[in-house]
Amino acid sequence: MPNTVLVGAQWGDEGKGKVIDVLTAQADVIVRFQGGSNAGHTVVAEGKKYVLHLIPSGILHEGKICVIGNGVVMDPFDLLHEIETLQGQGIATEGRILISDRTHMVMRWHRALDQADEARRPEGKKIGTTGRGIGPAYAAKVGRTGMRAGDLLKPDFLTLVRDQTEAANERLAAWGAPTLDAEEMVRIYGDLAKRLGPYVADTVRYVNEADRAGKSLLLEGAQGTMLDIDFGTYPFVTSSNPTAGGACTGSGLSPRRIDRVVGVLKCYTTRVGAGPFPTELDDADGEMLRQRGGEFGATTGRPRRCGWFDAVVARYSAMINGFDFWAMTKLDVLDELKTIKICVAYERDDGVRYETFPADLDVLKLCHPVYEEMPGWMEPTSQVTRYEDLPLKARAYVERLVELTGVRLGILSVGPARETTLRLGL
Ligand code: IMP
Repeated sequence: MPNTVLVGAQWGDEGKGKVIDVLTAQADVIVRFQGGSNAGHTVVAEGKKYVLHLIPSGILHEGKICVIGNGVVMDPFDLLHEIETLQGQGIATEGRILISDRTHMVMRWHRALDQADEARRPEGKKIGTTGRGIGPAYAAKVGRTGMRAGDLLKPDFLTLVRDQTEAANERLAAWGAPTLDAEEMVRIYGDLAKRLGPYVADTVRYVNEADRAGKSLLLEGAQGTMLDIDFGTYPFVTSSNPTAGGACTGSGLSPRRIDRVVGVLKCYTTRVGAGPFPTELDDADGEMLRQRGGEFGATTGRPRRCGWFDAVVARYSAMINGFDFWAMTKLDVLDELKTIKICVAYERDDGVRYETFPADLDVLKLCHPVYEEMPGWMEPTSQVTRYEDLPLKARAYVERLVELTGVRLGILSVGPARETTLRLGL
């Protein structure tokens, strides 16, 4: 398989896990390149359920090597828990999970700071984070006070743990939040360093050597384009770059070694947490999408906000990521709708039209979505195994999305099972 980058095209939760599972079969090395345990997906393989937040689901495929790239922020306790759970389920992890020595760690105080910061923000200013410490860990990284996985093996690691706990406690106390016991931190991190140390490696070298040796790389993003710190609905975003560019900075692979970029696109739109969502539905159609689509957060269990497909978002996302193919998901969720709306542009009351996503959220507040309507197919699609066998109206809908976004279709998913993935050139 050509070296492939796979990213979410909307606000995350596009169903990347299933597409990754399909593409992993053709890859040798799978690299997660950003985010942390704010992401999450459940994979059912041979009747067993696996919940993964940090480790690529490639671990469930025999012989594949999984890399936690340098762009990830890794909570070592979460990772260890995932490794031990997998081992308990009979999955071999030795030599198959490599943590970049450059990967920054989400420490206990980052989590405490994330939760305390959310709690103190007034209504309207809350981000609705997952509370997993992502923002503070990335802030420490760019503030040059972060701790990397490579530090686990250094003699002054526990001194740093003590110093940083005390520094974080000052901020927590100032915010009126509970503080952490520095000695307890030293004890738990001391134990952890011994257990996780063996997984730490120079993955930048590993990834490049694998590439030179002709191995196929799959670089997987978490979250989605509209949650990107640079290109998303700032400040209602995550703290990393889930877009294609992040695949290089988060793995150490040169852009020249990437052969193709795949965008995962849900056939409608969802978002978890706060922030603008132009096509959000507050009515029975929105509730139907939530229930039929099982739209509840994998990490926090929060109900997802649901709405119509937004071609402005999809076009913007295609532009930033340069998608070669769409992997469209969850078409079957729309099976029972009589009429389906597609947002083709945003328009201000004074007639100004936006075809691409504006940076200024105040502009968005003045806009309303411009919809076109298509007839629903009102037939089940989950049994269909060939694109040509889809109801004509379902094909017309998919083809309209392709036309509006200018990206060809590579995969179409019409249900949760592996067999419901229609392959069209990917
Ligand atoms: P954080 O990444 O926990 O800081 O949360 C920032 C924003 O990103 C919040 O709106 C979260 O709901 C959202 N978010 C984080 N991870 C995911 C994900 O995996 N899927 C969807 N939304 C996410």
